[in-house]
Amino acid sequence: MSLKALPIACLLLLLSFSAACRGQTGSAGPVGPAGATGPIGPVGPAGQDATASQSYIGAETCEQCHEAIYAKYTLSAHPHALKEITNASPQFPYDDLTGGLTEPPAGYDWNDIALVIGGFGWKARFVGSDGYLIAGAADAPTQYNFANETVDAPARWVAGHVAEQEIFDCAHCHTTGYVSQGRQDNREGIVGTWQFAGVQCEACHGPGSRHAVDPYGVFLRVDRSSQMCGQCHSRENPAVIDAADGFERQYVHYDGLYNSKHFAISCITCHDPHASTLYTDETVNPNGGISQQCAACHWQQRAVQNNRRHLGVRCTDCHMPPMGLSAQGNLDTFTGDLHTHQFSINPNPDAPQFNDEGTQMMPYITLAYACQHCHNGGYASRQDLQTLAAMADGYHTPIIPTATPTPEPSPTPEETPTATP
Ligand code: HEC
Ligand code: HEC
Ligand code: HEC
Ligand code: HEC
Ligand code: HEC
Ligand code: HEC
Ligand code: HEC
Ligand code: HEC
Repeated sequence: MSLKALPIACLLLLLSFSAACRGQTGSAGPVGPAGATGPIGPVGPAGQDATASQSYIGAETCEQCHEAIYAKYTLSAHPHALKEITNASPQFPYDDLTGGLTEPPAGYDWNDIALVIGGFGWKARFVGSDGYLIAGAADAPTQYNFANETVDAPARWVAGHVAEQEIFDCAHCHTTGYVSQGRQDNREGIVGTWQFAGVQCEACHGPGSRHAVDPYGVFLRVDRSSQMCGQCHSRENPAVIDAADGFERQYVHYDGLYNSKHFAISCITCHDPHASTLYTDETVNPNGGISQQCAACHWQQRAVQNNRRHLGVRCTDCHMPPMGLSAQGNLDTFTGDLHTHQFSINPNPDAPQFNDEGTQMMPYITLAYACQHCHNGGYASRQDLQTLAAMADGYHTPIIPTATPTPEPSPTPEETPTATP
């Protein structure tokens, strides 16, 4: 022991003595801080990829366990978006309302037709056995439109698809399990292949073979974003709402929403993704596919509408007017057959609805489209834009009676009318 260490040894000796003379041991002190994290362990064995080995099994298999969802889904447009034809007219759930598709285009037999696209709600087009869309000369009727009663348009064949051969490059939005490689059934005019015709469960939830075998072990994708719907309900650029001939074009629902304040909510805040919006069904779809009404959030606007004669006019009549066109409409009455998803009304009577070229919508609804699809002397009185503007401006703002002229101080108590018993 060195001289330097001697005092320490004495101190230790002293400490052990004093410990011997001390009273009872106190309670344990707090736990000290944790040590540094150790090195990362070795990588474990690779797990099974949840989707790689998956295959598409079709909605009928899902029905075995998801009966209630299947029941309303099968009455909605999605599964009927494309039908493979085998020598007979295709069937749709609301044929009794639309009249159905009884004939193929003139000059064709059902056994010349490989596919029917549409036919559920607005119109139908046809794909021949070579895989090309049936088109033709300027007067060749190749598209069948259902009737649109609001514009007095009967069901009819129309022409307009002028082409010698029109490629069928439509399947990525009308089928399930689509890939862009190859040609379905080796038909020359078709781009890509698919597992099932129509937009089935697995178009939104991903392939389900392993889930069907082990539903508690393998979960399917449940993507609640508007972007998921926008895969098919959008044109190229969501920032632009495409228009043509005075109407919004087809599938701009996502683009309209993208340009509205409702982008803060999503498609399925309002829509039941499994139910039809076009048709109601008393038992499985009583609310017409709309799971949340406007007034659930906008109760103030429901409470105040500065026009008593609008009793019975719905929020959507003004805020989602039929200013889009799929099949039939009439520009004179500002009426198409799809509903805009922009919502916001511009009360300025001079505001333009389109850009100069007429190819893009402004991100609002003008009074012509919001009001004059009724106020054209048909459903309701004809009203010019100035009169409409006078009412539209501050439409939901409570009219607070102005204080002029100030009435005399309150009457004497005797004069106060009392309720008769
Ligand atoms: C053998 C019965 C069975 C079949 C077949 C089946 N499912 Fe399921 N599925 C279930 C059960 C049970 C659950 C609930 C699991 C849970 O709650 O943990 C479920 C849950 C789900 C969910 C919800 C997952 C979540 O995270 O909430 C989706 C989506 C789904 N199934 C879609 C499908 C689709 C699409 C098909 C057809 C491709 C299908 N299922 C086929 C039994 C089945
Ligand atoms: C894979 C493409 C695809 C996806 C994804 C998709 N849709 Fe559709 N949707 C279509 C097509 C195609 C139609 C028209 C089918 C027809 O009428 O033949 C349609 C029609 C509709 C209709 C109207 C018809 C009816 O049944 O009354 C609604 C509403 C709708 N989709 C909402 C949605 C919502 C909400 C989502 C997202 C949860 C969504 N869609 C996702 C392709 C798709
Ligand atoms: C257009 C896209 C789309 C199609 C087609 C679709 N689903 Fe869904 N599904 C969704 C979305 C989005 C949700 C989430 C809904 C929510 O959270 O409000 C969902 C939720 C579910 C759920 C879980 C929640 C619930 O509502 O019970 C099940 C189970 C399910 N779907 C099964 C199916 C089956 C089975 C089919 C076919 C018969 C199908 N889905 C077709 C988009 C779709
Ligand atoms: C980007 C996705 C997308 C593409 C690509 C697409 N469609 Fe559609 N189609 C839809 C959606 C969504 C609807 C329903 C809502 C709408 O019209 O806005 C629809 C509706 C239809 C309808 C009316 C359905 C009915 O039941 O009345 C027909 C017919 C149709 N499409 C034909 C075609 C043809 C033909 C092509 C290819 C030249 C095509 N579509 C390409 C998404 C698409
Ligand atoms: C889940 C709640 C919810 C529902 C349901 C809902 N909205 Fe909205 N709405 C909102 C929110 C949030 C905003 C944005 C409010 C803000 O920024 O001040 C909004 C904004 C609006 C605006 C103003 C748009 C603008 O650009 O100024 C209109 C108009 C509107 N909603 C109409 C409707 C109509 C019509 C319906 C029914 C079809 C509806 N809303 C359903 C939540 C909802
Ligand atoms: C604020 C609520 C709300 C939101 C959000 C919403 N919708 Fe709608 N949608 C409606 C209502 C209400 C209708 C029915 C309008 C009518 O018939 O008067 C409708 C109708 C439709 C239709 C039927 C065709 C048509 O134009 O009438 C399609 C397709 C559709 N919506 C798709 C979508 C998609 C895709 C999204 C998301 C990008 C979406 N909607 C977001 C309320 C909403
Ligand atoms: C669903 C159809 C419909 C829509 C959309 C509609 N209205 Fe009306 N409106 C009526 C009906 C019905 C009446 C009462 C009878 C009549 O004037 O024909 C009325 C009455 C009026 C009147 C009073 C006429 C009078 O002589 O007292 C004004 C002003 C008016 N609406 C303004 C508007 C404005 C502004 C809009 C758009 C922001 C609008 N309306 C949208 C159906 C509609
Ligand atoms: C007759 C047409 C008409 C009807 C019906 C109507 N609105 Fe409006 N709404 C308007 C007009 C016009 C504006 C724009 C007012 C302004 O900019 O001063 C507006 C504005 C709004 C706004 C934006 C905020 C505000 O208060 O200005 C919301 C939210 C809204 N409406 C929701 C609704 C809801 C929910 C319903 C159904 C209960 C409804 N509206 C019914 C014409 C209508």
